[in-house]
Amino acid sequence: METLLKYNWKFKKGNNQNAQHFDYDDRDWDIVRVPHDFAIAGPFSPENDKQVEEVIADGIMKPITHVGRTGGLPICEKAWYRRFFEVAEDTIKCFLEFDGVMSNSIVYVNGIVCGGCKYGYSSFSVDISHAVQRGKVNCLAVSVNPEPSSSRWYTGAGIYRNVRLIEKQEAYFPYCPVRVQTCVREGIATIDVDTRICVSDLGFKLQIALLDEKNNLLEMQKVDCHKDTVYTVFQLEKFHYWKIYHSYLYQIELTMIKNNIVYDKVITKFGIRTLRFDAQEGFFLNGESVKIRGVCMHHDLGALGSAFSRAAAQRQLQKLIEIGVNGLRCAHNPPDPQLLELCDEYGIVVIDEAFDEWTIGKVVNGYYQQFDECAKQDLISMIKRDWNHQSVIIWSIGNEILEQGQKDGWKVARYLNCICKETDSTRPTAAGLNMTLDAFKNGLAFEVDLAGINYKPHLYEQLHTEYPSVILFGSETASTVSSRGEFLLPAEIEHPVKEKPGLLESSYDLATPNWAYTPEREFLVQDKYPYVFGEFVWTGFDYLGEPTPYHNNWPARSSYFGIYDLAGMEKSRVYSYKSKWTDNNLVHIFPHWNWIEGQKIDIYCYSSYNEVELFLNGKSLGIQKKDPSDEIRSHRLIWKNIPFEKGELKAIAVENHEIFDVVNTADNPYEVDIKPERNLISLLFTRQI
Ligand code: GAL
Repeated sequence: METLLKYNWKFKKGNNQNAQHFDYDDRDWDIVRVPHDFAIAGPFSPENDKQVEEVIADGIMKPITHVGRTGGLPICEKAWYRRFFEVAEDTIKCFLEFDGVMSNSIVYVNGIVCGGCKYGYSSFSVDISHAVQRGKVNCLAVSVNPEPSSSRWYTGAGIYRNVRLIEKQEAYFPYCPVRVQTCVREGIATIDVDTRICVSDLGFKLQIALLDEKNNLLEMQKVDCHKDTVYTVFQLEKFHYWKIYHSYLYQIELTMIKNNIVYDKVITKFGIRTLRFDAQEGFFLNGESVKIRGVCMHHDLGALGSAFSRAAAQRQLQKLIEIGVNGLRCAHNPPDPQLLELCDEYGIVVIDEAFDEWTIGKVVNGYYQQFDECAKQDLISMIKRDWNHQSVIIWSIGNEILEQGQKDGWKVARYLNCICKETDSTRPTAAGLNMTLDAFKNGLAFEVDLAGINYKPHLYEQLHTEYPSVILFGSETASTVSSRGEFLLPAEIEHPVKEKPGLLESSYDLATPNWAYTPEREFLVQDKYPYVFGEFVWTGFDYLGEPTPYHNNWPARSSYFGIYDLAGMEKSRVYSYKSKWTDNNLVHIFPHWNWIEGQKIDIYCYSSYNEVELFLNGKSLGIQKKDPSDEIRSHRLIWKNIPFEKGELKAIAVENHEIFDVVNTADNPYEVDIKPERNLISLLFTRQI
């Protein structure tokens, strides 16, 4: 039996000595529901996780004070959760499964330490069989202790992902019990099912059923449970591929039976797909060439914090799909498993990434402190948890790892790569390289299957020529900064981006930090080089923390990198990517049309068309054409210095007059029209917590 422990948790910050004990008086604690992020409640303060660090990757060589780096929220406080739960009289084995607890968690049942996990992004299972009282009420207490200066972005804090109570009998499937691997040869799909079982005596049978997406039984096998692993194979002559945007998910239903009594049941969804990465031709999914149009995403959900919400993650994915995104890089840590379920369903390919640090730290209390003790376990746990997700096509062992600059840094890469291969050899490994030439010179780049290049489109050609067998992709690209609706004149390239008094960056999409560049530079090389199999833009959405360029300019405390803003609202760049990455016919002009009479305005247009004509109050301001020889104009149509005149600005595609965009000078507001995006909002709030 599986019970989601969602409601009736008690929560309190602080040391709360003896809070692990059953009789502890928690009457004055808050009642919360899990997933819960205690930091998002605030208050914001520049003192929260203030960090004094150099940021070598950003060219900041001397330590500076960062105020909003992790979001300016109280993420590093000790805190406790408590909850009572019942265990049935006949339960034999009992576990708690945590999808992620931020961080340094310790799990107690009835006062007894049962387990825990340091890394806040790892999922883990705790055997509590010895600590529970069957047929009675038990006390679960979880302490968390996120440390200051342990991250470069907002982590959230607390039990921010699901927790399940698992009760089992004498025969059962353990945590992550099944591994489904598929391959297709000569038109036939082979499905290997590897199942781990725990049985106390003989006589149990394992029933393995293969079902299609609509629950129709395709084939069933029954085997005796002699050993602790059972291996079975199915073959399908007719089958559906799992494809980008067109997923098809089969199911394996495992049932443990004895004398017609069902002891345990597990359903695992999986897809059938093939992967091929080629140093000359790029990436092939099911034999078809696919250019990955990806984005990197941190795990927070903006104002909702990092407590996982399926609805909010789903909304993010839908918005990303609208602009043509077909790939996601989980930066820089394993995501909530439900995000991968959604990517499986939507048909989005994923890079599942393990670490942002290995043995050399980027922040004082970063992961490097626990690397020796935990890295192997954390990496294996990510792979075993996620290996049935067909959306996951790449294991990334790290992002911008400082070992790139070390002569023997490759050794750590080899160690981690071997762990990946031993655990799952069906997917390639990768790393996001920013000290790119060093990583190649020192050999680290050759330890992974795919070399992810962060912000070096100018190196693709050189690397491909010097190392023709290396498979390349843009693991982090662009990093253009902007604030939705803010347009600063004149519109000019700003590299490196400077701080502005209002802490807002212009939405002309021309401002980039010193390591970054505009989206067009990447578009041009992605189009030119078939061997670069795609890009992952930094980032799809703005996220909490890392308010570059405002490292110490409070109250800047969320990023400016997103194509969408923190709330998922459209910045101008939405139309840049949409016009490049989708088949939509579109014309989008900006800025807004509310200025001072006569003021000279630069008008920009993103369009799927090459030529667009602009009209101000019906008068033509001329046709502009895309110019492939100019980085910015290769993708944008620009009218400079147009004197502002109240009224209507209209842009029409020359090739198709039905496609146009209009902006009008605003009049006094006369109506506020608010429509909820989903009706479920009301439902969520009326349910008891
Ligand atoms: C990269 C880094 C990301 C983020 C980004 C901002 O160097 O990998 O985590 O910091 O820069 O542009």
